[in-house]
Amino acid sequence: MVGARPNLVKAAPLVRTLARDGAACWVVHTGQHYDHEMSRVFFDELELPEPDAFLGVGSGSHGVQTATALVRLEEWLQANPVRAVLAIGDVNSTLAAALAAVKLHVPVAHVEAGYRSRDMKMPEEVNRLVTDHISALLLAPTGDARDNLLAEGIGPERIRLVGNLMAETFLAHRDRAAEARPWERHGVEPGGYLLATIHRPENTDDPQRLSRICHELAAQPLPVVWPAHPRTRAALEAAGAAPAAAAGGLRVTGPLPYVETIGLVGGAAAVVTDSGGVQEEACLAGVPCVTVRTSTERVATIEAGANRLAEPEALGASVTGALGAPRGWIVPEWWDASVSARASAALREAFPPG
Ligand code: UD1
Repeated sequence: MVGARPNLVKAAPLVRTLARDGAACWVVHTGQHYDHEMSRVFFDELELPEPDAFLGVGSGSHGVQTATALVRLEEWLQANPVRAVLAIGDVNSTLAAALAAVKLHVPVAHVEAGYRSRDMKMPEEVNRLVTDHISALLLAPTGDARDNLLAEGIGPERIRLVGNLMAETFLAHRDRAAEARPWERHGVEPGGYLLATIHRPENTDDPQRLSRICHELAAQPLPVVWPAHPRTRAALEAAGAAPAAAAGGLRVTGPLPYVETIGLVGGAAAVVTDSGGVQEEACLAGVPCVTVRTSTERVATIEAGANRLAEPEALGASVTGALGAPRGWIVPEWWDASVSARASAALREAFPPG
């Protein structure tokens, strides 16, 4: 089950490996993300097979979106009996998939289990907690994620530490992404710009906070390439921050395809983000990251020395610190090219054919 942009990046290697290993696998897209550049382009670039079903859920409040996805996924599962459901990541579609399946007594495997930010104001944290506790198989991306699950009383027999699928996709496309020299399209030099992505409601929906982020970014000595999520573009307009976002060295663009994005991550002097996946991609690329949040579930990137948290007012100082800090950190264990193979083996063991 997939629904939103980051799900597609993680699903791609897993769907391919499951097919290679002989598992029949259906891809069901809830339609939480539906714009061409938020969804279709990822299927094309990552060679994900066409979804077997597209449920057209679309946007809405958390209740509307989760409930609509739940109803439609339940209908799909009733018409299509399956051995297990893979719920990926932490978006509203993930929670809906897990709820729909578990109530029909279809076992759930949660891909990317155990991440915790310990901030219950994040919708993703709620989604992660509930999905983990109702899943039969928990595929953890890091040792700290596995430890979180154990600390919450989940038995070790339900947990498999397989690593981070985001890393497998990143490693598969990294060279091609750099060869395309995406920075040239944005008028910047490799190593001579910052890459910013900001889309979380706590940053976009508070006009003062968003304006502060814009001003901090605009005050940076390096040019800033800023691919903006649709919500962020709308919020910039609403906050009256669009002029600030057009000022200085800020280059605001629409959402970018996957390969262009990771190419820009790899060429940046530093990354400023509030995205979970981009924190991981910067860590993998060897590029320092400043995360504009009060907490992160990607603690492995902080522990590696690749990432630091900053509030908007400390953003400038934090970027300066990140640019001057030592590099060459060790990427977290299990973030390699064999994550989907370990996940596929764990799925086969938990849900043997027949
Ligand atoms: C969702 C996930 C978030 C993830 C992000 C990745 C939840 C709770 N949040 O957030 O964890 O980091 O995806 O991108 O599931 N919109 C469009 N076109 C689209 C999709 C969305 O214009 O194709 C706009 C709509 O105005 C919509 C808003 O973006 O209301 C928010 O979309 P939504 O799916 O609710 O959450 P995201 O912010 O994308």
